[in-house]
Amino acid sequence: MKVEEAPNPLAEGLHDYRVADPAVMVIFGATGDLSGRKLLPALYNLAKQRSLPAGFAVVGAAKDELSDDAFRKRAADKIHQFSRTQPIDDSVLEAFLSSVSYVKVDFGKLDDFRALGRRLEELDNSRHIPGNRIFYCATPPPTYQTITLQVQAAGLNRGSGFHRIVVEKPFGFDLRSARELTATLQKVFPEDSVYRIDHYLGKETVQNILAFRFANSIFEPMWNANLIDSVQITVAEEIGIEQRGAYYDRAGALRDIVQNHGLQLVTLTAMEPPLAFQAMEVRDEKVKVLRAIRPLLGEDIEQSTVRGQYTGGWVLGEQVVGYREEKEVAADSGTETFAALRLFIDNWRWAGVPFYIRAGKRLPKRVTEIRIQFKRPPHLTFGREAMKEVDPNAITLRIQPEEGISLKFGAKVPSAGLRIRSVTMDFEYMTSFLVEAPEAYERLLLDCMIGDPTLFTRADEVEAAWMLMDPIEDAWRNGRPPLGTYAAGTWGPDGATKLLQGDGREWHRP
Ligand code: BG6
Repeated sequence: MKVEEAPNPLAEGLHDYRVADPAVMVIFGATGDLSGRKLLPALYNLAKQRSLPAGFAVVGAAKDELSDDAFRKRAADKIHQFSRTQPIDDSVLEAFLSSVSYVKVDFGKLDDFRALGRRLEELDNSRHIPGNRIFYCATPPPTYQTITLQVQAAGLNRGSGFHRIVVEKPFGFDLRSARELTATLQKVFPEDSVYRIDHYLGKETVQNILAFRFANSIFEPMWNANLIDSVQITVAEEIGIEQRGAYYDRAGALRDIVQNHGLQLVTLTAMEPPLAFQAMEVRDEKVKVLRAIRPLLGEDIEQSTVRGQYTGGWVLGEQVVGYREEKEVAADSGTETFAALRLFIDNWRWAGVPFYIRAGKRLPKRVTEIRIQFKRPPHLTFGREAMKEVDPNAITLRIQPEEGISLKFGAKVPSAGLRIRSVTMDFEYMTSFLVEAPEAYERLLLDCMIGDPTLFTRADEVEAAWMLMDPIEDAWRNGRPPLGTYAAGTWGPDGATKLLQGDGREWHRP
């Protein structure tokens, strides 16, 4: 959604005043989708908020033959089309574009990387940049290693200033390939200069999970197995696989969402309070959660996981084709477009509390939420009849859309008798702060420029996540449990409903 920016007295203090050192950001894959939809508009918005350091420069690098001006024109079009803030401020855009240039780089050609190096030196001199460089791989994952090694061969990771590399998920395809990728990245960049982006961590509402838990004293005492019955995490999308059939058919919902965004939400919900909101402390606590998750092995996989694939149906009033009829998808594809898991975290805080995660494409609507379901009161003071319309207490952290938090509790229905019903108390971002949250990429790009990796994924975190996913992927590839189907526009295969029914629970309908 694009919104007009209005002066907002309540937004006082919302501006990010942190200042980064001057640097050049090289965007590999600069003519691609991610760069056009997310990175260039995010950089423009940072320029608009005056968060970019003086002298900051962007070099687009891709294999297309383009002049600087042609690339700037392209960048301007994308910013007009995709910027979160509208209308575009022409003077900001013009100033931003004057810092943008382009170098043709064929990732297989070392000479092209040397030419890139010459451009970086020119920019250092003309814009007084002390050699600081950020290399952003906005390219398909199989190119990450080639780019990293070419950067090294051309000597672009050496010299004065900082040298950082940014890579996008998926970080590897399984544990083995993730380790290989890390080994290559670490040959060229120290781990603290490797920024692995999981854009969920840049979402304001995802960070707010930590603020809600640790900036308040009233929630944390109940945030454990004593009072919590179960946790449900839903990452639902109404879209299908769009133009990404070739990628998605290899990946599937488990790799595409659960391994990264899904487990990130589990760790933030379940982690112990870190000593400080700093990279090492936060990431250490997240890794501890991943290590405490009981791995699903053997028969557990059949009992605790569900996979499904959509068939044709109707989504938001539109008729859509089934997954196997999508472009670049095998006609007999066995890839899941829906995944659900029941996990347990074997530690003191969470012993016995199931965490249910589901993620899927072509579900009835787009919604990401974490629902903390509390236990029923131990004694029915008002009797069964008065309480029959009351659900147990629940806190829902709504990540998107309509970002907010709601608390469900029982209240007396106004009448002579005693009847109790569930009501909700809601907090909504838009109404409390009157601003639209910044795009995840704005936050993450700025953090990377400043050198704060708190919201980026560390190598051990990635590995711990793959360790949990690999056995499930193996079992699924061997047909255990069988692949279910669901009509597009419904909440997934029957198995997902049964997974909770077997435990005497049901999925929350967002
Ligand atoms: C990406 C996945 O990481 O996240 C996509 O690859 C998915 O398949 C997207 O659509 C969802 O992101 P968001 O920010 O729209 O929830």
